[in-house]
Amino acid sequence: FDTKHKRIMAQQEDVFKKLISHCKEYGFVFPSSEIYDGLSAVYDYGQMGVELKNNIKKYWWDSMVLLHENIVGIDSAIFMHPTIWKASGHVDAFNDPLIDNKDSKKRYRADVLIEDLIAKMDEKIEKEVEKAAKRFGESFDEALFRQTNPRVQEHVAKREELHSRYAKAMNENDLNELRQIILDYEIACPLSGTRNWTDVRQFNLMFSTEMGSTADGTMKIYLRPETAQGIFVNYLNVQKTGRMRIPFGIAQIGKAFRNEIVARQFIFRMREFEQMEMQFFVRPGEELKWFAQWKETRLKWHKALGLGDEKYRYHDHEKLAHYANAATDIEFEMPFGFKEVEGIHSRTNFDLSNHEKFSGKKLQYFDPELNESYVPYVIETSIGVDRMFLSVMAGSYCEEQLPDGETRVVLRLPAALAPVKLAILPLVKKDGLPEKAREIMDMLRFDFKCQYDEKDSIGKRYRRQDAIGTPFCVTVDHDTLTDNCVTIRFRDTMEQKRVAISDLAQIIGEQVSMKSLLRKIVNS
Ligand code: GAP
Repeated sequence: FDTKHKRIMAQQEDVFKKLISHCKEYGFVFPSSEIYDGLSAVYDYGQMGVELKNNIKKYWWDSMVLLHENIVGIDSAIFMHPTIWKASGHVDAFNDPLIDNKDSKKRYRADVLIEDLIAKMDEKIEKEVEKAAKRFGESFDEALFRQTNPRVQEHVAKREELHSRYAKAMNENDLNELRQIILDYEIACPLSGTRNWTDVRQFNLMFSTEMGSTADGTMKIYLRPETAQGIFVNYLNVQKTGRMRIPFGIAQIGKAFRNEIVARQFIFRMREFEQMEMQFFVRPGEELKWFAQWKETRLKWHKALGLGDEKYRYHDHEKLAHYANAATDIEFEMPFGFKEVEGIHSRTNFDLSNHEKFSGKKLQYFDPELNESYVPYVIETSIGVDRMFLSVMAGSYCEEQLPDGETRVVLRLPAALAPVKLAILPLVKKDGLPEKAREIMDMLRFDFKCQYDEKDSIGKRYRRQDAIGTPFCVTVDHDTLTDNCVTIRFRDTMEQKRVAISDLAQIIGEQVSMKSLLRKIVNS
């Protein structure tokens, strides 16, 4: 099992490394400030990346504000009044517990060190089960084995003991106890191998800066760690000016910033990232019904992309934040396992009530049907653009063995999200073919992002387009000059068809339009 497990891990790591270098090689994602050796957990999107990212954002935005009459968008500022972050709880509680190893000088999240140990214990248990399954073959009763095998029982008991001690320490914010657990369980620094640990300290994840330059002082303000608060503080502005009636939603896409201690896994955990959040305001008491509905709607949105239904799963939260009465994550199978891409939370009236308290302004909604005023309850859907980008790239990246023995790397991107929709390729660089190709491009460029390419063999040009996920290649040959037809090649099947130039817009349009993708959500 160990070897098999290690092999799978190595393969996953290998795929992930290939994906990261593919992102760089083809202009999707670059490390930020690369010529200065980069800036940790900050990335730039290149010429292909920005197109894909914009298409993801459009898909989300349209699915919210086009498909729902009762959802509108806003674009609030990144800088906000600092008291907002007091009210939201971020100043006091948006912390990670951190610990330093005095020898390696490396900083860790104390909770992550302990969770990694729990994961190792889980692995040990699975290893025992796996071994027994091999030994007993067909007749193996896994449930009975788990209940009765003394070694498994022993491992489970140790794991449970650690887990409950850890959960209690986290719940009670007991930093000394977190450190004691690390010492008692002899957790060593992976780098230095020593157990020479500092105390555990709380580390606030918000970045701060100063506003103003007057002599009588500046104001400490924060870079927003989530876009949601910009929606909460504008909810009455929108409700009143937009004449919105509950239930209604406000959507927003924008940057968020978190000083993550353990920033790793490429664009999965960044210090500057982008969120797409929607707050849905409902009557108190109706929130769980809406929570269930949004949970379903959001999964449909993901699945409509066609990356494979089996790649998604819900992870319902057992332990809820004090302000939430239901929460779930939508997880995607990344190259490093199932990971959260989106969170759906029933946040009660926590945020709005606190903003009432801290601002001294009434944030009540008058419900004409009930003839009463109340602070609405909120269902939040919150998804990271960059994580979504990573899941789309990971779900599309494919190395294929071709019948002629060659391999091709193809990005099977959903056509509506592809950065380039079609490539226009003159077979040769002479005989009037480039001019004809340009003519076609001039006709189609208003509808689709096109790329013209006349360099290298046609085979090489196809590969280049496969690598950036272009769904269609259109080849212009000598016959085109007389019959006004071209060869269209489909990325996924590599099938080629002769079609009239005048039909191109329709053939391509049907496949790549955002409209057909949005229809899939509605019809699913
Ligand atoms: N307003 C709720 C909120 O911010 P969250 O679970 O902290 O909830 C929501 O974040 C989503 O934002 C996550 O599901 C993830 O996709 C994205 N996200 C959070 N932290 C991130 C980071 N450091 N880098 C990239 N994406 C992140």
